[in-house]
Amino acid sequence: MDLWICWPTNSNVICNKFMPDIVKYPDKFLYKPTEEVWLPLNEDHRTLIKDMIEAMYTNNGIGLAANQIGSFEKIFVMDVSNEKNNPQVFINPTIKKEAKEKLTDEEGCLSCPGKLANVIRPIYVGLEWICQHGKAQYKTFYHLPARVVQHEMDHLNGKLCIDYV
Ligand code: NI
Repeated sequence: MDLWICWPTNSNVICNKFMPDIVKYPDKFLYKPTEEVWLPLNEDHRTLIKDMIEAMYTNNGIGLAANQIGSFEKIFVMDVSNEKNNPQVFINPTIKKEAKEKLTDEEGCLSCPGKLANVIRPIYVGLEWICQHGKAQYKTFYHLPARVVQHEMDHLNGKLCIDYV
């Protein structure tokens, strides 16, 4: 269910769909690790996931972690497609494997507007997670998705890309 917020003005009533704010650096909440999601998923989780996907698209992001909109749940979403029509949901994700070979690249973050950071990361990672249908998944991510996965995993562990030096 979508939440609408309405308020009266002099001449009429204005309504806007509730959109959670992105938690921004240096808010300490971003440095607090998230907590494992208690399964099975409930309605609150589904609402959170929907809000996360919407917040990611509204802010032109390609990934978003739950603590970036104020939730402590260990969930992130990602969509690296050009069409922005393939949101993927990662619940209780864990990196199981990573490449020895690393690459440095520039990263931005919705929580750190106007800042870019050079971050060195393994070129691929093997990730285990629970999908939005409650099923266990495992996949190896390469290239941009590998970088996004690791950036979002950092968020879930209370770490920001701008803190790499
Ligand atoms: Ni970020």
